[in-house]
Amino acid sequence: MGHSSRRAFLQKLIATGGTLGLSPWTLQSMLAQKQSPSGPRSVEPGSATMLSTWNHGMEANAAGFFALQQGGNAMDMIEAGARIVEADATGLSVGIGGLPDRDGNVTLDACCMDHTGNAGSVCFVQGVLHPLSLARKVMEDTPHVMLAGAGAEQYARELGIDEVELLTDTSRRAWEEWRKTSDYKPVINIENHDTIGLLALDDQGRLAGGCTTSGLAYKMHGRVGDSPILGAGLFVDAEIGGATATGLGEAVMKTVGSFLVVELMRGGRSPQEACEEAVHRIMDRMPTDDLQVGYLALSREGEIGGHAIHGGFNYAHTTAEAGRMIDASHG
Ligand code: GLY
Repeated sequence: MGHSSRRAFLQKLIATGGTLGLSPWTLQSMLAQKQSPSGPRSVEPGSATMLSTWNHGMEANAAGFFALQQGGNAMDMIEAGARIVEADATGLSVGIGGLPDRDGNVTLDACCMDHTGNAGSVCFVQGVLHPLSLARKVMEDTPHVMLAGAGAEQYARELGIDEVELLTDTSRRAWEEWRKTSDYKPVINIENHDTIGLLALDDQGRLAGGCTTSGLAYKMHGRVGDSPILGAGLFVDAEIGGATATGLGEAVMKTVGSFLVVELMRGGRSPQEACEEAVHRIMDRMPTDDLQVGYLALSREGEIGGHAIHGGFNYAHTTAEAGRMIDASHG
C-alpha cells in the first residue's frame, strides 16, 4: 500500500464516527511507532477488529490499526495500542502517571497472549515505561511466562530499557492528598477502573490480547492484581476467542474471569452472553455494592461482547470502517 493510501486510511480512522478524537500528541506517537521489517502491506485491514476498555481504548485502537497498516499482526496491534496509553502521563491508571501504592511507589502489571497460545507477563515492576512490551519480550525471548519485581526490572535493564520515573507531579500530589487521611475506599469506575485491556483480530484472522495497568490506587505495597495473571485479566484461545477484564482484580482472580469467558464461548455462548455470565458469577459470590468489574470478549469470527457489574463501564470498538465507544450493559 502506498504512502497516500496509508495517509487516507489514517484520515479515515480519525474521521470515523467523529469520536476518535486523536490528539496531535497521539498522532505523533503513532507516526513514531517502529516500522515492521516487512513494511506496509498491500492488503486492506478489512476484517480486522479491535476492542479496548474505557475511553483511552479509542486512541489505543487507532494506534493498533496504524500498526496493522504498517505491516504488523494482531500482537503488534496490541502492543502499539498499549504503548500509546502507557506513555500518556495524564492517565491515572496505566503506565506513567498511574496512581501509586500507599507508600508512593508506582508498580505496574501487564501481560499479553498471541494467536499461538504463547504468553508473557510482568508484575510488580517499577521504572519501566512500557510493561506490555517487556511482557512481550518475556513471551518471545525467554523460556518463561512471568517475571516479577526486581527480576523483571533487571531483565529490562539487560534489554537496554532505561529506567523512568513513573510518579508525576500530578500523581504525587494526589498521593500526598490521599495520605492526609489514608482512607482506603477506592471509588468504583474512578480509582478502580484502572486497566486497559485490549483484544485484536487482524486481517489474517490472528487473535491476540494484552492488559496493562498501574493497578488499584493506594494498594498495599506488593499487591498484584488480575492484569498480569493469564486466565484472570486476559485469556486468548485462537480457536475460540479472547477476553479481558477491568475493575477490581481480586474479584476477577477469584473467579478466573477471562478464562471463564472464553470457556463459556467454547461451550456455545456468544461473547455478550459469556461476559454476562462471568459478571453474574461474581455477583452471585460476593457483595458488589462497592465493586466494579467489566469484561470484554471478541470471538475468532469478530463478534464482540461487553458487560459490567455497574453502569459506567465503556469500551472502544474499532474496525477498518469505524471507531465507536460503546456503553457496556450491566447488572
Ligand atoms: N484490574 C486491575 C487491578 O485490579 O489491578
